[in-house]
Amino acid sequence: MLKGKDIISVSDLSKKEIEVIHERAREFKSDIFQKPILKGKTLAMIFQKASTRTRVSFETAMHQLGGYAIYLDWFDIQLGRGETIHDTGKVLSRYVDAIMIRTFEQKTVEELAKASDIPVINGLTDLEHPCQILADLFTIREKKRKFKGLKLAYFGDGNNVCNSLLLGCAIMGLNMVASCPDGYLPNKEIMERAIEISKKNNSSIRIISDPLEAAKDADIIYTDAWISMGQEKERDKRIHIFKRYQVNKRLLDVAKKDVIVMHCLPAHREEEITSDILDGEHSVVWDQAENRLHVQKAILSLIM
Ligand code: CP
Ligand code: NVA
Repeated sequence: MLKGKDIISVSDLSKKEIEVIHERAREFKSDIFQKPILKGKTLAMIFQKASTRTRVSFETAMHQLGGYAIYLDWFDIQLGRGETIHDTGKVLSRYVDAIMIRTFEQKTVEELAKASDIPVINGLTDLEHPCQILADLFTIREKKRKFKGLKLAYFGDGNNVCNSLLLGCAIMGLNMVASCPDGYLPNKEIMERAIEISKKNNSSIRIISDPLEAAKDADIIYTDAWISMGQEKERDKRIHIFKRYQVNKRLLDVAKKDVIVMHCLPAHREEEITSDILDGEHSVVWDQAENRLHVQKAILSLIM
């Protein structure tokens, strides 16, 4: 079903395909499926931005499944000296079995996929972070045992993680509220796409700028960095604008009693989330990070 498929946007996947990925991830997590099924296979990983989780979970996934992963820093390979993404895709297709790329523009991943004869996985762009959200949905299902009727409230910057969450919630039928300040709303086109999809799945996708109203009765509270990679120069301005959207006790007090708190990490303690919440009883962030490994094993084994 997924063999040969590129994963560039969450919306490249159907509900059924996400179910299949989650089913395989469950098998990997419970140890039923630990055969070296990627023996002889190689994953090239191109990074134009920093990474801890994405790099280590993909690399470990390939290793544990009997395959091999090559870390390629954008500036260490000829890309950094001007070789085109098209030509890089053509050449890598002759050596390896799949490519994972973390870069700035979504267009770069699309161009790479177009030029490559092998599957291409988006490991984060400024627009989306699909692998993160596939793992997050897996974590939500693990903790809540369902999607239908749940309310996910996202706080802060309408960034890549928020965009992919909107699509993921719409596809799987969760209700999502994005609480973001004016000027920092999610991508307009993605928002429209998510609303369109959610209508078919009887769920709702909304923007509520007031954080306390957005957090009311939430089953899941989610936040991410206020300053994403590449936005370091906007730091002072952003800290000021996002202050109201911090995930703290005040917000949790209006959510459901069994609310879970999620963060894709890295966290910036006392900025988008307070330490008492990140380390507190509602936080599932470490399980969330672990699940990147299981879900990526599922993705790799299904697309290669
Ligand atoms: N969540 C996430 O993608 O983390 P890294 O930036 O460390 O890969
Ligand atoms: N929004 C963050 C996510 C990091 C995993 C960034 O793009 O830097």
